[in-house]
Amino acid sequence: MRNQADMIVGLQWGDEGKGKIVDHMAQTHDVVCRFAGGHNAGHTIVVDGKVYALHLIPSGVLNPDAINIIGNGVVLSPENLIDKELKQFSSLKGKLFISDKAHLLLPYHAQIDQAKERLRKKAIGTTGKGIGPAYADKISRVGHRVGELQNPEKLAQRILNHFDDNKVLLELMEIKRPQEDELIDLLTHYKDELDCYITDTTKLLWELLNENKRVLLEGAQGTMLDIDHGTYPYVTSSNTISAGACSGLGLNPKDIGKVTGIAKAYCTRVGNGPFPTEDFGEDGKKMADVGKEFGTTTGRARRCGWFDAVAARYACRLNGCDQIALMKLDVLDGFDEVKICVKYEFEGEQIDYVPYDLEGVKPIYKSFKGWKSVKGIKEYDKLPDEAKAYIKTIEELTQTRVGVISTSPDRKDTIVLK
Ligand code: IMP
Repeated sequence: MRNQADMIVGLQWGDEGKGKIVDHMAQTHDVVCRFAGGHNAGHTIVVDGKVYALHLIPSGVLNPDAINIIGNGVVLSPENLIDKELKQFSSLKGKLFISDKAHLLLPYHAQIDQAKERLRKKAIGTTGKGIGPAYADKISRVGHRVGELQNPEKLAQRILNHFDDNKVLLELMEIKRPQEDELIDLLTHYKDELDCYITDTTKLLWELLNENKRVLLEGAQGTMLDIDHGTYPYVTSSNTISAGACSGLGLNPKDIGKVTGIAKAYCTRVGNGPFPTEDFGEDGKKMADVGKEFGTTTGRARRCGWFDAVAARYACRLNGCDQIALMKLDVLDGFDEVKICVKYEFEGEQIDYVPYDLEGVKPIYKSFKGWKSVKGIKEYDKLPDEAKAYIKTIEELTQTRVGVISTSPDRKDTIVLK
């Protein structure tokens, strides 16, 4: 029986604090893989006082012994990878592998993304990085794959043909057709920089699993942003849930072992779209201030609100979560009262499931007495009773055990329950 991969997945609208847990788990895994999304994701990790900003490169890069895989399900911006991320490291040859089947996210994808957002009556609030247009090209079978960088002249011709086929639309969006020689130079530069990382990562990952290596699958964004199961159309363009790891890496469902769902002790969301527990008053403002809720990728302020147990239960079931890692519990320190959404009111009825559309859904809350402080606590028994009652209710409502509790941004301030 070969090893199964462990998995980390976001249970809310992204930014749940996956970075801290992935960073922690990456220390004990031989292989860390990204399977979906692109450089819309991002977290910063501090090691020995040096700050690293990661968007596409998996967090295992900070474990000197780990191998990192960017799978076929990712849309890869060579520009961002070369000019921003790889610059932070000396060569990652032999440590980083990029799927030849991953799709290229090229500069015009970002231009299309931004132009479409400007033209929409109701913007989605995308990161503007070109994620949607790159996935749209993939699904429309007009995308370009990383493997094509092997032949920059041929790829340039295919890209120029794409511009010619879409001339009217692209001109309307004021997106210029690249000059052929400049485009070939750019693609040759991408090839020179990335060639040593490009390979058949599916085959590589199968071999590593056969050798019983410990593999960690690092989810990006969150369940409620999943293209199929999230708050469509206010979602990202990939499958962010655990099933996405199968198609995004070439695994089968039996390759996936323990799934840890990451959730904040409250909720946040960036961009537009329904968010039933959003708090527009002082409480939401306090969560934003104390939790430093600003996006790492775009710097945008995040919308804040109470823990939504209806959405979390849905997310646990979709992902097959074995446990929840409850992050940023200390941000709720000092509230007189804390709340959990236990049901929704929808079209005059009380419901305990996530309906087709969350627009217009109202939260029904259960209130709890707040606690003074959990900051820096490292043992469950030392948590205040009020915080324990809060955690227990989350377990009951999500039907999932809370196995990890984070009580400060510091790697050390984490309670891991046996
Ligand atoms: P896109 O992924 O740039 O197309 O953006 C679509 C939606 O997903 C927007 O609401 C973004 O704010 C959101 N989104 C994308 N990536 C992240 C992330 O890493 N964290 C939180 N929200 C994200």
